[in-house]
Amino acid sequence: MNHLITAIEQLKKEKNAVILAHYYQEGEIQDIADYVGDSLALAQWAAKTQADIIVMCGVHFMGETAKVLCPDKKVLVPDMAAGCSLADSCPADAFSRFVAEHPGHTVISYVNTTAAVKAVTDVVVTSTNARQIVESFPKEEKIIFGPDRNLGNYINSVTGRNMLLWDGACHVHEQFSVEKIVELKKAHPGAVVLAHPECKNTVLKLADVVGSTAALLKYAVAHPEKEYIVATESGILHEMRKKCPQTTFIPAPPADSTCACNECNFMRLNTLEKLYECLKNESPEIVVDAEIAKKAVKPIQRMLEISARLGL
Ligand code: 13P
Ligand code: SF4
Repeated sequence: MNHLITAIEQLKKEKNAVILAHYYQEGEIQDIADYVGDSLALAQWAAKTQADIIVMCGVHFMGETAKVLCPDKKVLVPDMAAGCSLADSCPADAFSRFVAEHPGHTVISYVNTTAAVKAVTDVVVTSTNARQIVESFPKEEKIIFGPDRNLGNYINSVTGRNMLLWDGACHVHEQFSVEKIVELKKAHPGAVVLAHPECKNTVLKLADVVGSTAALLKYAVAHPEKEYIVATESGILHEMRKKCPQTTFIPAPPADSTCACNECNFMRLNTLEKLYECLKNESPEIVVDAEIAKKAVKPIQRMLEISARLGL
């Protein structure tokens, strides 16, 4: 493995490449990345990098977002099969029809969507900025929110809005077991429950803190003396344990499984070997249709502008 790390470092310098990694990646990928972050941070870093090549260690929509923001750069993803069940739950043609059936609505899409869905969107959000971006619109604004029904319901509940929701979900976050979290809470009565807003409402009800991966990490770093039950993809525990080595982090278990934690099979397709190969071969490369990219860049830029104004 050491030789792979050295070879990746060398290729990165030779090719002026930057490695961006999401918190759900394998620990060894997070450790070698130039930047590790949530979906918003990955888009922000992509938008400002001076590198010629961006290696997006995450899933396809993250690579697409980087490509749309940086059309002149080469954007690589170690495994092109790294998709997202949430993005898949919202096919662009069906979403476009839904938008056309509800005229007069502002369309807000979660970043976990294809570029083609973003092309029919007014503003993109991530779980870090969704609440603030929704609240930046007048109370009476008619809004379509897609594709995550759990995040949409959560934002409706905290903002008092009544956004029209697309019925999509993430298969990883939908799987957390309420019963097993309740059992863990009994066994660890002082533990703080951290949950990602893609979790079902019944799980969010048990949570003390609801937020994006970056927000959950930030909370734990600010309160390292506590113990945590973590209801999101278990890759985040790597950075949590690195930043808070004395703290106990317990992954929330999925239902119907003997596994103690919940992994995203798409995120985990990327490996250190594939990262090396993709940097060496400059493939597989993300390609976005030029017409779609021209439309999709606007709502992404809008999100970045609002986030910068909000200091996010
Ligand atoms: P974050 O933006 O909170 O990191 O979420 C990304 C994601 O895919 C959650 O499943
Ligand atoms: Fe998509 Fe869910 Fe995996 Fe995140 S955890 S990339 S939302 S499938």
